[in-house]
Amino acid sequence: MKIVMLGAPGAGKGTQAKMIAAEFGIPHISTGDIFRANIKEGTELGKKASEYMERGLLVPDELTLQLIMDRFTKDDCANGYVLDGFPRTIAQAEALTESLKKAGEALDYAIDVDVPDSAIVKRMGGRRACLSCGGTYHVTFNPPKKEGICDLCGGKLSIRKDDEPETVQKRLDVYHAQTQPLIDYYSEQGILRTVDGTQEVGEVFQSIQEILNA
Ligand code: AP5
Repeated sequence: MKIVMLGAPGAGKGTQAKMIAAEFGIPHISTGDIFRANIKEGTELGKKASEYMERGLLVPDELTLQLIMDRFTKDDCANGYVLDGFPRTIAQAEALTESLKKAGEALDYAIDVDVPDSAIVKRMGGRRACLSCGGTYHVTFNPPKKEGICDLCGGKLSIRKDDEPETVQKRLDVYHAQTQPLIDYYSEQGILRTVDGTQEVGEVFQSIQEILNA
């Protein structure tokens, strides 16, 4: 099963993608997590990416495509994958479609987690992230068992630099200008499914399961 998660920053793509990956036994591939791991390790790619990420801008397509395109050929992708944060521009989506086509494959679903901007701004202030394993929490809506500590790996939770309110607004603007057009792109391919992302985490997941198990 090959799935793309769509939705604004903070819509809950990552939260749902991890649940889908666990349920269906496929890898969760997040370009944001890969960039953050590179930043943490101080790689050249990480240095370049952080210049854009900290300002709420997209990392240029060329860099992103270099990073991601060979990821799909790894052994763990044999039964599919769930993509979170990629593609994010029409150029990235076309590159993905082309690469799949060459291999005689295609995506199964593009799932749009739909949340209005007003709810997003509220959510981002409460997000806490584990920089060690990428685990994501919310102080109110999805708290860890022990405050400030990741349930999954015991790592310390912190506030992402790009979750400051001004940067969140910039990311939303960038989303509407550059990423939202993907909704039409995948609708035209007949694989778009939309879920109401304002429901509780478990309810959103149930809506997604109904789509994937249909
Ligand atoms: P990335 O890491 O992909 O960030 P994003 O798309 O902005 O998405 P987020 O991780 O912020 O949110 P999410 O939708 O995953 O929500 P989450 O589940 O965490 O990208 C970061 C940056 O990297 C980009 O800005 C860009 O610079 C760069 N980048 C990455 N990919 C790129 C690409 N392909 N091309 C170019 N640049 C790229 O949930 C958010 C919060 O809400 C959490 O606290 C969570 O616990 C809570 N929550 C989740 N669901 C619910 C719910 N149903 N109810 C209440 N709270 C909820």
